[in-house]
Amino acid sequence: MSTQIPNLRPQVESVGTSLFVPKDSDVLASIRSRQAKIGVLGMGHVGLPTALGLADLGWQILGADSSESLLDQLRAGQAPFYEPGLEKLLSKHLGKKFHPIADLEQTIREATILFVCVGTPQRENGEADLSQVEAVARTIAQNLNGYKLIVEKSTVPAVTAQWVKRTILRYAKNAPRNDGSPAAEVREQAESVPDRFDFDVASNPEFLQEGAAVRDIFRPYRIVCGVESERARMILEELYRPLHSTVLVTGLSTAELIKHAANSFLAMKISFINMIADLCELVGADVTQVACGVGMDPRIGPQFLNAGIGFGGYCFPKDLRAFIRLADQYGLDFSLLKEVENINRRRIEVFLKKVRQALWVLQDKTIAVLGLAFKPSTDDIREAPGLKIVNALLSEGARLRLHDPQAIPTTKAVLPENGDTVVYCEDAYTAAQHAHGLIVLTEWPEYGSLDLSRLRDAMDVPVVIDGRNVFDPAVISKLGFEYLCIGR
Ligand code: UGA
Repeated sequence: MSTQIPNLRPQVESVGTSLFVPKDSDVLASIRSRQAKIGVLGMGHVGLPTALGLADLGWQILGADSSESLLDQLRAGQAPFYEPGLEKLLSKHLGKKFHPIADLEQTIREATILFVCVGTPQRENGEADLSQVEAVARTIAQNLNGYKLIVEKSTVPAVTAQWVKRTILRYAKNAPRNDGSPAAEVREQAESVPDRFDFDVASNPEFLQEGAAVRDIFRPYRIVCGVESERARMILEELYRPLHSTVLVTGLSTAELIKHAANSFLAMKISFINMIADLCELVGADVTQVACGVGMDPRIGPQFLNAGIGFGGYCFPKDLRAFIRLADQYGLDFSLLKEVENINRRRIEVFLKKVRQALWVLQDKTIAVLGLAFKPSTDDIREAPGLKIVNALLSEGARLRLHDPQAIPTTKAVLPENGDTVVYCEDAYTAAQHAHGLIVLTEWPEYGSLDLSRLRDAMDVPVVIDGRNVFDPAVISKLGFEYLCIGR
């Protein structure tokens, strides 16, 4: 199913893009027959699930990355990070439909469709650092050897796709001619190909949630395709046809903006409910019931209304900042989103206050910590709010006994084990041993089904400060715990 926005018809420009003409049917036929290869550039949290998802749909995938150690892991059938279902897909397609590869130039030359999934980290000023995207665009330019569709999947600010297009055109035309390099050779061969500069750029933002990336690949809420040509639209629709999902076709910058707007809106929902949680505490209301009642209205929806210690991860904080920065660059003060950020920043102190309120002096107190990942079902601790809380507690002299079902190795890398100050534990009950208090920082489902009597008996003082509203206040209080949570 395809939904064309009436007033946002793809614009067709004279260079680097084309209207669908009969010769393009060859390109389309090679895609339909699964002859054309797909290159996925960057094997991170976006690239790898994308590559394996497309392999599962029947395409031949070259998965390129510059990290040899990461490629070695992939070749050994190991996913480089925890993502449910990913390793199973890897073992199914490795060496058959999915081929890890270090050579970016070869990938570009062999593939017809190139998904750009490289990192767009954050600069000091909040802007997205697009140097990896630019480097890829330049390498593509120097290795054009026939038609390519370059699909931007990394989250990037609006107008990046236009820059990718401009960069490819610039560097393709100025590629070295006779220096004997492989790029020059390719160029020389390409000179004899009439359509050597024939390419399209598309923006196809990802909406994958860590911990549910495989589900999101196969059952997306929507697929957004920003294109400038009929040919690019047809190729992308062909590619995603097996998913039977709604495809929204837009212009390039619109697609880029949809991604940033979606993440910002979700972040705004979270900050909104966190403010409601603070108000609930003051007036004696229950934020989970408020969220339930509010979310029953389909215009609002029930998701992303869980109050807690705030949002983290590699996406929301970075994307929000980049979006604010983009607006600033165009002279627009997106003050609404600045406040979303401020509210989120304050969640750490709101929670620490609760811990102090419950435990008083933190110096030399033993605290059990349940959950380190920025959210459940991942081992990712990037921008995890829990980690900020952990560091604050350590700086106040607390001794921590930490547990997480997946994120202990990733946390150990930044916070090594240290005598009885930082102790990693194999389960929640071990973490609770002789603790003067227990805090919950990630809502792993298994924490919800812990044997609370056993937990209480392990602790010296049964105080629980629950930053994710995992436990039922009535149940846990009845068992003799002192219990503090968020907004109830
Ligand atoms: C987010 C978006 O949900 C994806 O659609 C998007 O593709 C992705 O960013 C991206 O840009 O790549 P992700 O960062 O994996 O996905 O995680 P979320 O499930 O969105 O959670 C983000 C943070 O918000 C977590 O720290 C989570 O604990 C927090 N959160 C979420 C809440 O505090 N309350 C909620 O109700 C929901």
